[in-house]
Amino acid sequence: MHTILLGAQWGDEGKGKLVDHLSSKSDYVIRFQGGNNAGHSLWVGGKKTVLHLIPSGILHPHTTCVIGEGVVLDPLVLRSEIHKLMDAGALADAKDRIRVSERTHLLLPLHRALDQERERKRAGTRGYIGTTGRGIGPCYETKARRTGIRCIDLVGLDAVSFAALMERLHESYREELGSDRNQELMGEAMGFLPEIRNFLAPLLIDTLEFMKAGKAQGKRFLFEGAQGVMLDLDHGTYPYVTSSHTTSPAAGIGAAFPSLTRDAKVIGCAKAYLTRVGAGDFVTELRGRWSAEELLIAEEIRAAGGEFGATTGRPRRIGWQDLVALKYAVEVAGMDALAIMKGDVLSSGLHSLKGSIRVCVAYREKGGRILNHFPALESTFSEIEPVYEEIPLWKSARSTDPAYKRYLSLIEAFTGVPVLFSGHGPEREQIEIV
Ligand code: GDP
Ligand code: IMO
Ligand code: MG
Repeated sequence: MHTILLGAQWGDEGKGKLVDHLSSKSDYVIRFQGGNNAGHSLWVGGKKTVLHLIPSGILHPHTTCVIGEGVVLDPLVLRSEIHKLMDAGALADAKDRIRVSERTHLLLPLHRALDQERERKRAGTRGYIGTTGRGIGPCYETKARRTGIRCIDLVGLDAVSFAALMERLHESYREELGSDRNQELMGEAMGFLPEIRNFLAPLLIDTLEFMKAGKAQGKRFLFEGAQGVMLDLDHGTYPYVTSSHTTSPAAGIGAAFPSLTRDAKVIGCAKAYLTRVGAGDFVTELRGRWSAEELLIAEEIRAAGGEFGATTGRPRRIGWQDLVALKYAVEVAGMDALAIMKGDVLSSGLHSLKGSIRVCVAYREKGGRILNHFPALESTFSEIEPVYEEIPLWKSARSTDPAYKRYLSLIEAFTGVPVLFSGHGPEREQIEIV
């Protein structure tokens, strides 16, 4: 049985921890979209590892970790992440277990500069996205413009042909960035790319052939999604989304092996509450809109849950669970089951909660009309009122606790899929198979 693991909310649901858990029974762990905008935290034996590009199965020594062609790859980040793991000692073989698709696009200083420059100009306007500033959007942009540069171009082309590609890539942004800055960025890339060429060459694979060989040997595949469904380019809260597809069909494209992913079980990872980083509204955000007490609750949850970005360190915005959004995510991403993480945060003795929590079960529009589906127009989110069900808070986030069990049952009844996993702490073992 193969598995696709996706984020079911706005990212940071605890996917990394779940992938680490599922990797004990997987052989190949494959990232198929996104880039180092992702930040996946793993706690094993009291030690924290944060991964941005390397699949979260790497801490299990039997795994092979693949970066598929759907990913945008900042090679400097990959190199430093590999070195960090190898320096840690226990993973001296990390590099031998990591493979990268030849077709994966390279994320270069140009992309990072465009991302940061554009965000700087948009600051304070509705156009500001709050990206991670890692160059992800511009890298997918050059891929779609057909001026991007793939790993195989760097490794397989002669120096003259490669330089021509670099010229073509940078040429199209000369006007936007200015001639000097553009030249500087190209020079910067040309400076480190020969070394990166040597570093990447032994890692490159033809993903289809590699996966086919694995399938023939009976390997078990785990496809690791980054971000979450609500950040999906087509199905998320556009334009406040990332630039890739985060739903299950993306695994077939980004890992070049749709016949495998078609039969895979799709698990969506959600938190017991909601968080979001960057711009864009969400209906259940606790931002003092309905009562001053909301801000206190948000603050307590943020502190107890350590809700600060694993990539940028930004405080995550906090809200109540939104079952309308979660049901939408389950359906639009094709999820077969859910994992609910961090229920322990809500039951960790937060003074502001007073024995109960809220769960959004519908939306009320300005005129009073009840909405039961997730709307497409992002600008209406700030006007929609959440319709809440108030439910008793559990003492422990275990399915043996009747209040917690009731919460999980509510999620199952509303979304139509079972909850198979439940997290009750950050450590590898703190997960229950429900
Ligand atoms: P990801 O991007 O989906 O992999 O999630 P992040 O790693 O960015 O954020 C999730 C955070 O919650 C990390 O710090 C995890 O260590 C932590 N975490 C994951 N699952 C649980 C859980 O069930 N309980 C608690 N308390 N923390 C968890
Ligand atoms: P993981 O995999 C949470 C958000 C950014 C911003 C929007 C676009 O750790 O769950 P981008 O840099 O992708 O162009 O930013 O998407 N974002 C994430 N939020 N978790 C992530 O990854 C995210 N990756 C991007 O905050 O709102
Ligand atoms: Mg994260």
